[in-house]
This record gives sequence, C-alpha cells and structure tokens, in this order.
Amino acid sequence: MILIQFTGLSGSGKTTLAENVRHLLMDKSYKVEIIDGDVYRQTICKDLGFSKEDRCENIRRLFQVGQNFVAEDAIVLMSVINPYENLRNELRTYEFVRTVYLDCSIPNLIKRDPKGLYKKALLPSHDPDKINNFTGISDVFEVPSSADLVLKTDFETVSFSTHKLYNFIIDNI
Ligand code: ADX
Repeated sequence: MILIQFTGLSGSGKTTLAENVRHLLMDKSYKVEIIDGDVYRQTICKDLGFSKEDRCENIRRLFQVGQNFVAEDAIVLMSVINPYENLRNELRTYEFVRTVYLDCSIPNLIKRDPKGLYKKALLPSHDPDKINNFTGISDVFEVPSSADLVLKTDFETVSFSTHKLYNFIIDNI
C-alpha cells in the first residue's frame, strides 16, 4: 500500500510517532507494520554495525522486508535513522514510498537523550564506554533536501506531529 521511510537522528521521535500512528490507523482497520532499526538489528541485521556500508545494507534489507508487507497491503513505517540522501532517493523511486523527516536540533537531542546514547557518544576518546561513529555527533547525517513531510519534533507536540503524520498517510493512500 504505502511505505513511509522515516529519516531522523536517534531520539528524534521515530518510534513514538510510529507507535502512535499505528494505533490511530489500526482503529480504522488498516494493517500496519513497523520496521524498527533497533529491533531488526537484534535479528536479521545482527551482523551489521554502523559503517556506511553496513548502514546501507541495513536499510536495503529492511526495505526488502517492507516491500513484502506492502505487497500484503500493509501501511509500512520504516523507523530508522536512514542517514544517506542517495540511498533515500533510490528508495523514493518506488511509487509507494514517501519520505518523512523528523527534524530535531542536536542540542535538544542531547538534552532529551532517552537512551543515554548521546552522553556515551560525547565521552572522551579514551573512555571504554564511548560510542564511536554516532550519527549527528561523530558520524554523518545528510539532511534531506526534499522530504515529502517534515515534522519539527523539537517545536511540535507529540500529539500535533502524530496527527500531521496520520493525515499525511491518509492523504497518500
Ligand atoms: S541506520 O543508520 O542503519 O539507519 P538504525 O536506525 O538501524 O540506523 O539504528 C540506529 C539505532 O542504533 C539508534 O537508535 C541507537 O539506538 C543505536 N546505535 C548504536 N550505535 C549507534 C551509532 N554509532 N550511530 C547511530 N545509532 C546507533
């Protein structure tokens, strides 16, 4: 039916918005599948890390899964950082794909830090707990130049962004 490729930094609200929208859509009897990077990195993407090559392979595998759900008439929410413009554009060539950018400033993400990952990414380099190649801090995030929808999650309320996304999906199916 439709596949939403999210793009946005860790902590920008992808999981929260995907879950909220799933509930609203399921209330209207739509079939919804969330493909969450954190979840799939425990299973079919367990062998992958965070190099450019591995992140691209991650997205490709998840897109493959997503395509199968689309074929079964589901609304698919691909909840991943998805940091590269070229790969996002490649996916966009499929007519059932829409790109939704969750825009939140780095200072706000550092302030929120729900998983404590920014704190670890900002540790000094000799610290054994430091996370390297962390998107937005020590690894690239290419801001999308032409997303189909932008949700400014540091200014909008969760409820506002949820309804904006919900309406966008309804208008696009
Ligand atoms: S993507 O870049 O390949 O799209 P994906 O969305 O699957 O990333 O995974 C990102 C999640 O992995 C983050 O939300 C965070 O929980 C975790 N993570 C662990 N290490 C990193 C890192 N170096 N960069 C980004 N996210 C990381």
